[in-house]
Amino acid sequence: MKKEPIIIAFCCNWCSYAAADLAGISRLQYPGSIRIIRVMCSGMVHPDLVLQALNKGADGVIVVGCHLGECHYLKGNEMALARAEIIADTLEDLGIAAERFQLVWVSSSEPERLVAAFRAMSERLRAGRTPEIEAKEAGQ
Ligand code: FES
Repeated sequence: MKKEPIIIAFCCNWCSYAAADLAGISRLQYPGSIRIIRVMCSGMVHPDLVLQALNKGADGVIVVGCHLGECHYLKGNEMALARAEIIADTLEDLGIAAERFQLVWVSSSEPERLVAAFRAMSERLRAGRTPEIEAKEAGQ
């Protein structure tokens, strides 16, 4: 049986981390291989952090922030959106499958949306079995 993909989830403190908290309180289940890292704002997640996570063994990285127009720091998620384009271009340049990175917006009252995003990425990575993941599992 294939193992669950390791996914690093950078969650902003004000919305998405609160949604993750609420998901736990509500007993919503998501794959145990999701590793949540709380950041103050999605705009703080530099592209280097995403690339380092993938380089150090994560199968996927998901950045989760407040909905556009609702960032606690006003424009942090707009910065995250701009960075997501840079990340996507960089992954393409490096030959890394695009589905290994995702940016999503979740409010603190949307734990179901957060869990759905986690599950969808995990299933996509499992189904897609990117060449990088196959090589990693084979110990190469
Ligand atoms: S505080 Fe949530 S995205 Fe900025």
